[in-house]
Amino acid sequence: MAGSATAGEGTFLRVLPASDLPEGKGRAVTVAGEEVLLVRSGGRIHAVQNLCTHQRAKLEGGRVRHGHISCPLHGMLFDLATGAPKGSLSRIPLKVYPVRVVDDWIEVQVG
Ligand code: FES
Repeated sequence: MAGSATAGEGTFLRVLPASDLPEGKGRAVTVAGEEVLLVRSGGRIHAVQNLCTHQRAKLEGGRVRHGHISCPLHGMLFDLATGAPKGSLSRIPLKVYPVRVVDDWIEVQVG
């Protein structure tokens, strides 16, 4: 299948040109039926679920700083690398997806 490669237990799917994701921004994409938020912070690209684990608000549009994103609704912070929550509103981490850049395309592994 064009635009995909198999590695390990899942498949990496091309989702967005890397140049379309500026530093400090998040962009939601749907990958194999899952809504994934791509975020570039500190030059690193992360892929996490686009739903806060507190009350399921969309994280897209949340403030990105120092490898964390804050939920736009109540301000919970999540570590973009691990998904770990910071704060008392939720103890449930975000789902984190393997992500890589190949030929200037961001690829995310789902499944
Ligand atoms: S819904 Fe995200 S912090 Fe409440």
